[in-house]
Amino acid sequence: MTGQVQILRGEEGVEEASRRLINGECIALPTETVYGLAADAGNPAAVKAIFTAKGRPTDHPLIVHLASAAQLPEWASEVPKSAWQLTEAFWPGPLTLLLHKKSTVTTHVTGGLETIAVRAPSHPVFQAILEKTGLGLAAPSANRYKKLSPTTAEQVAHGMAGRISAVIDGGPCEFGLESTIIDLTRTTPAVLRAGPVTRAALEEALGQSVSTPENHGIAVPGNVEAHYQPEARLQRVQTSELGIAPEDSTAYLIWSDAAAAAVADFAKAGENLLHLPAEPERYGQALYTALHQLDQLDVQTILVEFTPTDESWAAVNDRLRRAAGTG
Ligand code: TXA
Ligand code: MG
Repeated sequence: MTGQVQILRGEEGVEEASRRLINGECIALPTETVYGLAADAGNPAAVKAIFTAKGRPTDHPLIVHLASAAQLPEWASEVPKSAWQLTEAFWPGPLTLLLHKKSTVTTHVTGGLETIAVRAPSHPVFQAILEKTGLGLAAPSANRYKKLSPTTAEQVAHGMAGRISAVIDGGPCEFGLESTIIDLTRTTPAVLRAGPVTRAALEEALGQSVSTPENHGIAVPGNVEAHYQPEARLQRVQTSELGIAPEDSTAYLIWSDAAAAAVADFAKAGENLLHLPAEPERYGQALYTALHQLDQLDVQTILVEFTPTDESWAAVNDRLRRAAGTG
């Protein structure tokens, strides 16, 4: 495919995208987490087109997006009580459930696995398309393999030029980080990917303890190696290390006032310095756009101030570890 990515909008965009999805094409759509590259999850050729467009190995499983929890029995062989509790509490929203797949579900979408990841996105554009098409839509983040996930339609159009035909512009994503993934196929539910729904919130909804990646060490296929990387080398540094003037071309991503004071003499706000909110949800919402923006400067290094280590920062810290290649 050559040329520019068409940016679709409004009602007409929903109509046009639905028509193309039913025809087996893949189209980028907004979700509340990041933009996704969607295709008919029940059509192996359409699913294959997603892998080709992303340049992603076909053994990396995809998330299937559903209109509501009522569709779970069409995709999962058994729906445990925990799944109903979590969908009641968090769907539609940024939570993905890992369940045993139904035998009728093609393994193209699960990367050959017998488990399936499912979620109901809350973005109104994605919901309208799920309703109009009646399909389950497989949708990984709408970026090339290992690159940063997009949180605006412009980032999709830039990163996927020549690889997809269209994106619907649904505005900047509300959360800006990928969904939390929880594995419900084991005795103790386990968070496989930290995200907007925290472990504490999951434990409260389930009334049971939930393990996290730090303490169970499960390797998620397609989620093990370096991921979510900008072009520049990303290095995480302590606030105190920021006061040293750099030798090469460098950009800065900070959150604390102490860091702002440390770099004041050589970094320029609005140019090579971005100051993100000191609050984890707002920091997470802005993170990928900030990295995309700093990457546009063609700098060699992005120095990222370490963020706090308490649990509310888990999703942000997970993505920063991976972006730095230390994940
Ligand atoms: O927020 C999100 O989840 C976004 C939006 C578009 O919905 N999607 C997303 O998809 O982040 P993707 O493909 O970039 O990441 C999906 C993750 C991968 O790490 C994959 O390994 C894991 O989900 N996954 C999917 N199916 C799985 C399975 N059957 N077993 C284990 N991991 C699975
Ligand atoms: Mg991704």
